[in-house]
Amino acid sequence: MEDRVVTNSFVSDDQFEKNIRPQYLTEYIGQTEIKENLEIFIKAAKMREEPLDHVLLYGGPGLGKTTLAYIIANELGSDIRTCSGPAIEKSGDLAAILSSLEPGDVLFIDEIHRIPRYIEEILYSAMEDFTLDIVVGSDATSRNIRIDLPPFTLIGATTRAGDLTGPLRDRFGIVSKLNYYNVDELTDIVKRTSRVLENTIDDKAAIELAKRSRGTPRIANRLFKRVRDYALVIGDGVIDLKITKMSLDKLKVDPLGLDETDYNLLKSIIEKFNGGPVGIDAIASSIGEEQTTIEDVYEPYLLQNGFLKRTNRGRVVTKKAYDHLKIEYQDKMF
Ligand SMILES: Nc1ncnc2c1ncn2[C@@H]1O[C@H](COP(=O)(O)OP(=O)(O)O)[C@@H](O)[C@H]1O
Ligand SMILES: [Mg+2]
Repeated sequence: MEDRVVTNSFVSDDQFEKNIRPQYLTEYIGQTEIKENLEIFIKAAKMREEPLDHVLLYGGPGLGKTTLAYIIANELGSDIRTCSGPAIEKSGDLAAILSSLEPGDVLFIDEIHRIPRYIEEILYSAMEDFTLDIVVGSDATSRNIRIDLPPFTLIGATTRAGDLTGPLRDRFGIVSKLNYYNVDELTDIVKRTSRVLENTIDDKAAIELAKRSRGTPRIANRLFKRVRDYALVIGDGVIDLKITKMSLDKLKVDPLGLDETDYNLLKSIIEKFNGGPVGIDAIASSIGEEQTTIEDVYEPYLLQNGFLKRTNRGRVVTKKAYDHLKIEYQDKMF
């Protein structure tokens, strides 16, 4: 799926993303409730001169979790250390990170649900009492030692809060779910990106881009980049509605933001499984995508927009999807 623009991979877009990332809460568009709460909690922590409670951010890829983690550290005036769940392979990896923290630091663990369970347990006392319990030596000579850690704030990010164990989840004092952005918010994000990159986009074009970004800032920014290329090479560099529509059509991103994989997914349920119900594993193998990619990236948007329904017997394609794909809908009763 490397070449697809709407690919919402877990790997971030390196330098480009860094440059356009907002630095402060006031620059972070949307997620109003989360922002308002965080602002209070951050202020209170600073007034008490205590670390902010541990924060869990969850929501689909590209919705702004990493961005928000950096903003929180920035607003706290703290240094941020980052690592990711899959990179922590041994208890020693996590112990090393924790014991290198300075007072007041923010530790950001991305994809925190992917830390192996037996390693995760180290986090419990670290989060609760700022202590690190480790076993040193082996067999007969092994013993437990306890190391005091400086007060710090853990920020965990995950696309799957459901995959987090209860004991870990319970140790976060602040839990925030990031939602899809609406068209107004995405329009603002596109305009902000256009200002940062010094490449103007007119209002109608920005709205069109927003509508096709499936509620996700990362996708809005990626599409902006591609449209900007078309405008430069085919047009005169100005991003207007015409060039936006043309390029998005060429990229096979439809007016509601559905892309080729969404079409494949819906069509394969309709054609191979008679519209469903069908299990996620069967869908995954029939379109050759990872089950987790379907669950994290495609399905939530299709569900949210009423193209797909989840039943206890599996996924079902709705009439709305048939209509959108221009396939005749037959009532399953007959
Ligand atoms: N609320 C927001 N306002 C402005 N830009 C945002 C916002 N959320 C995300 N972005 C942009 O989208 C991109 C992806 O966000 P990121 O934080 O990496 O998502 P996640 O970590 O949830 O996958 C970032 O480069 C950032 O510029
Ligand atoms: Mg991220």
